[in-house]
Amino acid sequence: MSAKTFYLETFGCQMNAHDSEKVVGTLEQQGYRQVDSEEAADLLLYNTCSIRDKAEQKVFHRLNDYKKLAREGKRFGVIGCVAQQEGEKIFERAPYVSLVAGSASYRRLPELLARMEAGESRVTGLDDRETEETFETEFTARKNPYRAYITIIEGCDKFCAYCVVPYTRGKERSRGSESVLEEARRIAEMGYTEIQLLGQNVNSYRDPTGKKSFAELLAAVGEVSGIRRVRFTTSHPRDFTRDIVEAIDAVPALCDHVHLPVQSGSTRVLRRMAREYSREWYMERIAWIKAARRQISISTDMIVGFPGETPEDFEETMTLLDAVQYDAVFGFKYSARPNTPALVMIDSIAEQEKAKRLQILQDRQREIQRANYERHVGDILEVMVEGNNSAREQIVGRSSQNKPVNFTWKHPIAPAPGSYQQVRITRAFPNSLAGEAV
Ligand code: SAH
Ligand code: SF4
Ligand code: F3S
Repeated sequence: MSAKTFYLETFGCQMNAHDSEKVVGTLEQQGYRQVDSEEAADLLLYNTCSIRDKAEQKVFHRLNDYKKLAREGKRFGVIGCVAQQEGEKIFERAPYVSLVAGSASYRRLPELLARMEAGESRVTGLDDRETEETFETEFTARKNPYRAYITIIEGCDKFCAYCVVPYTRGKERSRGSESVLEEARRIAEMGYTEIQLLGQNVNSYRDPTGKKSFAELLAAVGEVSGIRRVRFTTSHPRDFTRDIVEAIDAVPALCDHVHLPVQSGSTRVLRRMAREYSREWYMERIAWIKAARRQISISTDMIVGFPGETPEDFEETMTLLDAVQYDAVFGFKYSARPNTPALVMIDSIAEQEKAKRLQILQDRQREIQRANYERHVGDILEVMVEGNNSAREQIVGRSSQNKPVNFTWKHPIAPAPGSYQQVRITRAFPNSLAGEAV
């Protein structure tokens, strides 16, 4: 076999993970074969993330680690959010890179690859951020054995003061609901039972064909024959409408989980972040979710140490934790990012103080989760199997509420990823549940 080979490493969010599935499919269609080591590849690709400075630095570390392979004639490509953000500056920093492309340009990948193969040394795909089109391909190489992703909306128009995404992923654009449903049916025919709908703000979805609201699309995906679980992430509080909760109540396949990033409990900080909602607005949406007939698990993202966050503001974030009682909180220290409006605000809070606030938040949240998870002891939960932990002889999976469940299994043949199992919960930890198959 003389096929050209490529190695791909992916950083960042689930949208990036799914973009990579589409990129792999596109490359395979162009005659490339994926390999699992840098050394075995003709082309090394990095699908990058720029959300915080630490994430951005990862790709430069990788490029540095492997630059010696450039002498063997291997080629390097940087794609994704760092590519879009840094653009041609990447060629200056790492001259052995020959392809730099943002996600809005993936539709043009076959052309970009061809130009690279023809010997062009600096090929770019950076000028498509204003596109109205979404990137869809029938060649998506679905690498996850139990969960199929569908991106329903790309880009972001919200421009929160701290965030790079509107610049790295470009203008907000949604995919037609019929096209989404067709893909959902194809996925079900392939044997998948879990679908995750994706978007930086998945619930800002606006059907370009005008047929379905986000909640209606959610319900319709949940009614596709063969689909047992539908997840969606990430929801923005600004666009979180009551009919989303009603859809979850009405359609059994929709999972009992909403990820609703709040970022801060202080209305003053939220205003400075340009989130365009107040604490009260957010809490009203939490009340809708809590009033549902089904018990819906809630998780969030938080930023501590945003410029100007006072101890009083931070205290409001802590009281919000107590009020909501989240099942998971992803907490981050504010990281100043290129091109963002918050850059003009002085990043006055010392790194040490940010770390201290994050620690306080995580300690408190751990206690909340300990109590939340403890309440499951004695429950029988339906778990979708994701794999096994052979060292501990446990099967690992997730409940509808997205809680990790590890369980023991008495038969000689372990259940396959993607299968469902009823599990009696016998122990609880702050981040997972443990039990036995029934
Ligand atoms: N679109 C989603 C979030 C996308 S980014 C939303 O608006 O909720 C994922 C998370 O990264 C954000 O929720 C935020 O908590 C965090 N984040 C984004 N920019 C950041 C920055 N500059 N510093 C620290 N955390 C950041
Ligand atoms: Fe970033 Fe805000 Fe858009 Fe989320 S809504 S991706 S935080 S700009
Ligand atoms: Fe990172 Fe881009 Fe996703 S910045 S979090 S990979 S949208």
